Amino acid sequence: MRSLEDELFPSTPGKVKIERTHTINRQFYRCFASTSTMFLWALFLIALTASYLSFQSFVDSGSRYFSASWGGIQWEKQVRNSAQISRSDDIRNGGGKMSVLVTGAAGFVGSHVSLALKKRGDGVVGIDNFNNYYDPTLKKSRKNLLSKNGIFIVEGDINDAKLLAKLFDIVAFTHVMHLAAQAGVRYAMENPNSYIHSNIAGLVTLLETCKSANPQPSIVWASSSSVYGLNEKVPFSESDRTDQPASLYAATKKAGEEITHTYNHIYGLSITGLRFFTVYGPWGRPDMAYFSFTRNILQGKPITVYRGKNLVDLARDFTYIDDIVKGCLGSLDTSGKSTGSGGKKTGPAPYRIFNLGNTSPVTVPTLVSILERHLKMKAKKNIIDMPGNGDVPFTHANISSATHEFDYKPTTDLQTGLKKFVRWYLSYYGYNHGKPIN
Ligand SMILES: NC(=O)c1ccc[n+]([C@@H]2O[C@H](COP(=O)([O-])OP(=O)(O)OC[C@H]3O[C@@H](n4cnc5c(N)ncnc54)[C@H](O)[C@@H]3O)[C@@H](O)[C@H]2O)c1
Ligand SMILES: *[C@@H]1O[C@H](CO)[C@@H](O)[C@H](O)[C@H]1NC(C)=O
Repeated sequence: MRSLEDELFPSTPGKVKIERTHTINRQFYRCFASTSTMFLWALFLIALTASYLSFQSFVDSGSRYFSASWGGIQWEKQVRNSAQISRSDDIRNGGGKMSVLVTGAAGFVGSHVSLALKKRGDGVVGIDNFNNYYDPTLKKSRKNLLSKNGIFIVEGDINDAKLLAKLFDIVAFTHVMHLAAQAGVRYAMENPNSYIHSNIAGLVTLLETCKSANPQPSIVWASSSSVYGLNEKVPFSESDRTDQPASLYAATKKAGEEITHTYNHIYGLSITGLRFFTVYGPWGRPDMAYFSFTRNILQGKPITVYRGKNLVDLARDFTYIDDIVKGCLGSLDTSGKSTGSGGKKTGPAPYRIFNLGNTSPVTVPTLVSILERHLKMKAKKNIIDMPGNGDVPFTHANISSATHEFDYKPTTDLQTGLKKFVRWYLSYYGYNHGKPIN
């Protein structure tokens, strides 16, 4: 799949080309006196300009940055094997057997959902760009875990339209579980473009591929509870207003809900958006509070606890990963089919949005005290007023919609879930009774 230019110019050849053009120009003027060589030089210049322009266009496409590690017969075989369905029963809604493309499969939620799908016999192929928003070695470890379970994660970016088309060429995916995104609320002030790249541009590239695929897959994707923004009505219901985002992250998720609606409307793609409420658990995300609190407490470092307006504690509807996984699988099983074919809609397709939360918010100081108990260590707390950087004071999910549609019922409380997280953390990072083993 790689072009000759990719092979010849592996890094930043733009500079090389520009320098060469200058040199050639000087030589051109020196030789200009000789009319016999002028025609040849002109031809050469035209060829050079053409190759420079074509080079620019492939640099601009951006996809080449991520295409280096895919392609080839061996690679295709890995994709095909990973997509193999091993389940023989056929009892579920919509005809059963699934082959699912999971984006963000090396991520926290993506790795858990991939494993759960594979375990029940569905075909799974992952894609992830292994970016370094947080420690990529954790993503590699998740990849190894999935690999041991027969799941292959393609290393690539969801903005790479050629790669996505190739994957749909190899496998007729019935479903896409879209979890790749730039997550995190505060990081948006540091790197706003990463949110546009993954949550807007990447989403559109993925939807374009899906609408053109034949047959079209059904799409389930992760929105976020952050779309409720400054909403103060409790608990948050799907019909509440979501037009007051408090962060760029939230704004890109809200945009995703509108963009997916468009693709549902025009092309007949079956779409389910899931508004996750603060997901936590083993193999979790190091940038989230419960994770960094655990790390700091174990290392004897202080933790920063934000407090809301009027000294009110922040609270979150923390949702355990296994409950989220059940919600994702329930959504996939009930998604209903896309109706489009050859890029045209043939009838209306489902468009759904569900909250996936736990329905019992817990304050951050309570979170800290549960961690202290599990770790048998005291936290050094710096309590400061919440800066206006995108965090909302509380979240609380109304999940009656998901309960009604696919019997979604969270069963793990924060106490139990954090115990499992801490057990994983200590073993993954090599602690034994609070001290590193080596
Ligand atoms: N964890 C939560 O509390 C939570 C809450 C609400 C919504 N969500 C959403 O759920 C989804 C999964 O979140 P998570 O907690 O597992 O995050 P995560 O960061 O662990 O997983 C996302 C994965 O996507 C990959 N990725 C990012 N941009 C990509 C791109 N352009 N191309 C290919 N891969 C890319 C990352 O490398 C990462 O492995 C995200 O969409 C997130 O916004 C998560
Ligand atoms: C929860 O949402 C449902 C609609 O899905 C609504 O009928 C119900 O009144 C909501 N409950 C509360 C307590 O807001």
